[in-house]
Amino acid sequence: MFVHIGILFVLLQSSYCVERYDGHKVLEILHKAESDFIKILEMELKYKLDFWKLPKHVDDSMKVRVSPEHLEDFLHELEAINADVSTMIENVQDIMDEHQVQSEVPVLHRRASSYSSGWSLNVYYSYSSILNYLTAIAAATLPNNMTATLETLGTSYEGRVVRMIKLSKAGSAANKRKIFIDGGIHAREWVSPATVIYMIEMLAYNPNNNASINTLLNRYDVYLAPLINPDGYQYSGSSYRLWRKNRRNNPQGNCYGVDLNRNFPFQWDPIIGGSNSPCSDLFSGATPGSEPETANIVNYLMANGDLFDAYLTIHSYGQMWLYPWGYTSALPSDHSDLHNAALSGKNAIAAYQGMSYLVGSSTNELYAAAGGSDDFAKGGAGIKYSYTIELRDQGDYGFQLPATLIIPTAKEFFDGFVAFADTMYTHLYGSSGK
Ligand SMILES: *[C@@H]1O[C@H](CO)[C@@H](O)[C@H](O)[C@H]1NC(C)=O
Ligand SMILES: *[C@@H]1O[C@H](CO)[C@@H](O)[C@H](O)[C@H]1NC(C)=O
Ligand SMILES: [Zn+2]
Repeated sequence: MFVHIGILFVLLQSSYCVERYDGHKVLEILHKAESDFIKILEMELKYKLDFWKLPKHVDDSMKVRVSPEHLEDFLHELEAINADVSTMIENVQDIMDEHQVQSEVPVLHRRASSYSSGWSLNVYYSYSSILNYLTAIAAATLPNNMTATLETLGTSYEGRVVRMIKLSKAGSAANKRKIFIDGGIHAREWVSPATVIYMIEMLAYNPNNNASINTLLNRYDVYLAPLINPDGYQYSGSSYRLWRKNRRNNPQGNCYGVDLNRNFPFQWDPIIGGSNSPCSDLFSGATPGSEPETANIVNYLMANGDLFDAYLTIHSYGQMWLYPWGYTSALPSDHSDLHNAALSGKNAIAAYQGMSYLVGSSTNELYAAAGGSDDFAKGGAGIKYSYTIELRDQGDYGFQLPATLIIPTAKEFFDGFVAFADTMYTHLYGSSGK
């Protein structure tokens, strides 16, 4: 098939952005006591703070963006609680200017070979381009007996369709178990959808006829939904680069958006790492599962969860491979299975370019947060191997990871994923299969 899909693509252009971040700093803050951490969280709305990273454990620092208008008052408060403060990024706008994709012209693809769709993997694409890509993959003739099927999970608050690709290799075992992967739940984490698309390419085409990939596909069908919060993503691309939530128009407070990763209906609790305030970046929503983007995933996993061995939700940044629970520091009874499989992933990631990923449970490694999709996938839908992945980096660029780093970030994670799936499968069914 001749795939001239490249012509249709429209890039996300940072030149559209209206929100600027001149003089905004990202501070690294090390608080002295847990109660001080809570105090800082409570300053979010007063000083319009944007939490880039919350502490992983009691002695860990947090990273916070603050505008020049609020800097001085915020620093005074930090001084009063005797927190250690250092400046991590002097001027957020500078990184935007230096490292965002400018109006790069879409590559007009050569005719796609049977080992590639011809899609450029090193570009951040718009929502509509991603939809076109998914449609094209589903229509393409794939090598290796692969079939790609397009499925609709639902629509977003603003009415955008949310789609998923199912990848399955014919001629291998019937009724294979399945793996679910989603991306883009947090709008500003652009490397997430880009990584899920990279994974679709590698699984659909297996361009080097790699034996490990073939083994994975003989064992599992893989379902991938690269962009489950399209409204937030479009808003991040057009107006407000650092947008996190969806785009619900909240009735109270004149503020937009719910943090979808605080909204899932399993042990939902705004008090635990979320917020009851519609203006907070961590707003958990009015009720558990209130958001259409959340319901899209919940409905699918409730109906089909028993077919799935694994659920992975892809975020950035921080380089972590995390498993439940997020709502409590207690561990699931099978936590050592989840830990061991994640370690295989971590080791394969490190083998590529030496990047170090931290493996652990969300609460113990990060901070308690209820209403996350991984807790729901495990506790609500019964999917054993449920994870939150935080891709690169560790804060140098943060959410504004340059497009030149998409491929190494995605490749190392894909290597990790393949190794993880092998360990998981062997643990569940033995190396020869079920
Ligand atoms: C494709 O499927 C056919 C029929 O099941 C099988 O004979 C063939 O070996 C498969 N090819 C690959 C590349 O898996
Ligand atoms: C096969 O693919 C996996 C996953 O991407 C990778 O880790 C491994 O190095 C590849 N093997 C070869 C021989 O290229
Ligand atoms: Zn995230």
